[in-house]
Amino acid sequence: LPGALALTPPMGFNNWNSTHCRAEFNEAMIKGIADLFVSKGLKDAGYEYVNLDDCWAKPQRDAAGKLVPDPVRFPHGIKAVADYVHSKGLKFGLYSSAGTRTCDSVGMPGALNHEYSDAQQFAEWGIDFLKYDNCNNEGVDHMLRYTTMRDALQAASARTGRPILYSLCEWGSYRPWEWGRDVGHMWRTTRDIKDKWPIMLGIMKENLRLADHAGPGGWNDPDLLEVGNGGMTDTEYRTHFSMWSIMAAPLFISTDLRKASPATFAILSNREVVAVDQDPLGRQGSVVSSEGGRWVVAKELADGSRAVALFNESDKPQRITTAATAAGLPDAPGYRVRDLWRKTEVRSAGTLSATVPAHGTTLLRVGADDR
Ligand code: GLA
Repeated sequence: LPGALALTPPMGFNNWNSTHCRAEFNEAMIKGIADLFVSKGLKDAGYEYVNLDDCWAKPQRDAAGKLVPDPVRFPHGIKAVADYVHSKGLKFGLYSSAGTRTCDSVGMPGALNHEYSDAQQFAEWGIDFLKYDNCNNEGVDHMLRYTTMRDALQAASARTGRPILYSLCEWGSYRPWEWGRDVGHMWRTTRDIKDKWPIMLGIMKENLRLADHAGPGGWNDPDLLEVGNGGMTDTEYRTHFSMWSIMAAPLFISTDLRKASPATFAILSNREVVAVDQDPLGRQGSVVSSEGGRWVVAKELADGSRAVALFNESDKPQRITTAATAAGLPDAPGYRVRDLWRKTEVRSAGTLSATVPAHGTTLLRVGADDR
């Protein structure tokens, strides 16, 4: 899409994985997250959007056909929350569906056949982001549904002067990596993530195959992060975060940071890992080798170096080894190898190697050293 949005993968917060439509999804939570983005340094680390998912509105439209914010969750309305988020120097996002209703069984009305009036209402509240789902679509052509909202958002945003990042959420159903770049700024590539190792792993593998389709302005979206939600170990969450970063995935925190552990904050705010995700070249990493659960994934970076993930899928520790040249680096007398989790640096003659715990990832940044 024209404009300068999403030149690197979007980063922020979305409540869905931590709350679904439970009562703790409310104004206090969203304000609390915005506060923590600032006080815990996450804003400085690059997290920018604070987004609401399903169930922010009442199940029925009002007599004029407008969406009505849920008065229990958001007693001061949506604009008040958007204003609060903006007052912290952050951006604000909403959710809707390209159907008659959204996805949750409680849910809310969808925007099908209400695209222009809903987009106008969202823009008047000051949204900077829309996640647009696919439920209850009545079999209407997906291209029509997703482009109508694209055009409605562009018309509304032209009136308010506030650009709106458009996130397509059709779960990979219609191969959005082939057309998404002309319609939105990111597109879900898979089914919903869950806070479970095998599900995160399956999604990761599917998304890894789509590396050629990602780039500045349009990104493969393997779904919100689960880091901190308790269903995986911290080792597994470091793998999740490492792999999302080497895949140049949008990084949306989706745990309740008001209750998060220091380990969760340490993972999410590792700036050298975030820098791999946010590298301005905008390449998604691709698989160099995968044998016996020993994965090597490499990502070209703007300064000529490579991020290299040594990921151990197996249930026991393994030594994972590759050559710097196999990871795409030029032949050189030596290489500088920085471990982005341990924050240590060594020199190598050309072999990249680590003993990696079960389900763990060693994430390296490697540059040729001509000395
Ligand atoms: C779908 C989406 C999720 C979430 C829920 C909300 O399942 O894929 O990301 O938005 O709907 O109901």
